[in-house]
Amino acid sequence: MRKDLIAGNWKMHMTHQETLQFVQKLSYRLEPSDYERVDVVICPPLTALRTAQVVIESDNLEIGLGAQHCFFEEKGAYTGEVSPQMLSKLAVSYVIAGHSERRQIFGETDEMVNKKVKAILDEGMIPIMCCGETEDEREQGLTEQKVGTQVRLGLQGLTAEQVAGLVIAYEPIWAIGTGKTASADDAGDMCTFVRNTVAEMFGEAADSVRVLYGGSVKPGNIAGLMAKRDIDGALVGGASLDPDSMASLVRYYI
Ligand code: 13P
Repeated sequence: MRKDLIAGNWKMHMTHQETLQFVQKLSYRLEPSDYERVDVVICPPLTALRTAQVVIESDNLEIGLGAQHCFFEEKGAYTGEVSPQMLSKLAVSYVIAGHSERRQIFGETDEMVNKKVKAILDEGMIPIMCCGETEDEREQGLTEQKVGTQVRLGLQGLTAEQVAGLVIAYEPIWAIGTGKTASADDAGDMCTFVRNTVAEMFGEAADSVRVLYGGSVKPGNIAGLMAKRDIDGALVGGASLDPDSMASLVRYYI
């Protein structure tokens, strides 16, 4: 069965010193049984990955490390970019691809997201591929069309085996950082739609894909979301920045 995954996407927050303190505090708040039940992942900014890696390894913690971004080329004249290999050498296991902020602010296209997903997989890491509609698209009834297209183009050319290990995050753009969460029913239905889209492309592999919901997830609303059959976890922004809150999200079942 699919193991739950709670991932904190810190976005452009936290220095490397703050990251060190965060990881230590979070580890004090979690029990071995939490890690058995839930994969706990933090995605700090690039400048804090090395610090997080060192503290996780030296304290033998089961917290997984994720990156928020990478380029899809192996190396070369790409000022400011970081390659998947540079991340995998830092013991990064997850990389977010196609977050709506990267699509909207930095112009990432579905084609680029597809290349990133492949490059991340080639380095043995797990992509967390994001999809989601704007408020306008939702009002115009275009939600499934938008999300279906993002999923299809993002996964184009992958093998069923690669797809089986993937994480896909459904993050309606109107719910990100706004305090407006999709209702558990709406979020659950869209995560089912995402899984069905993957099933149309790759058959049974869709049963193993972990589908997360993201958008104003908080300790107070996570349990209702997690109760949905096709929601396997959450990609959390604001509420993942505080170790108490992150620990409550991980321990939503208590
Ligand atoms: P918030 O949880 O702050 O709404 O952010 C969601 C998100 O974008 C996670 O990737």
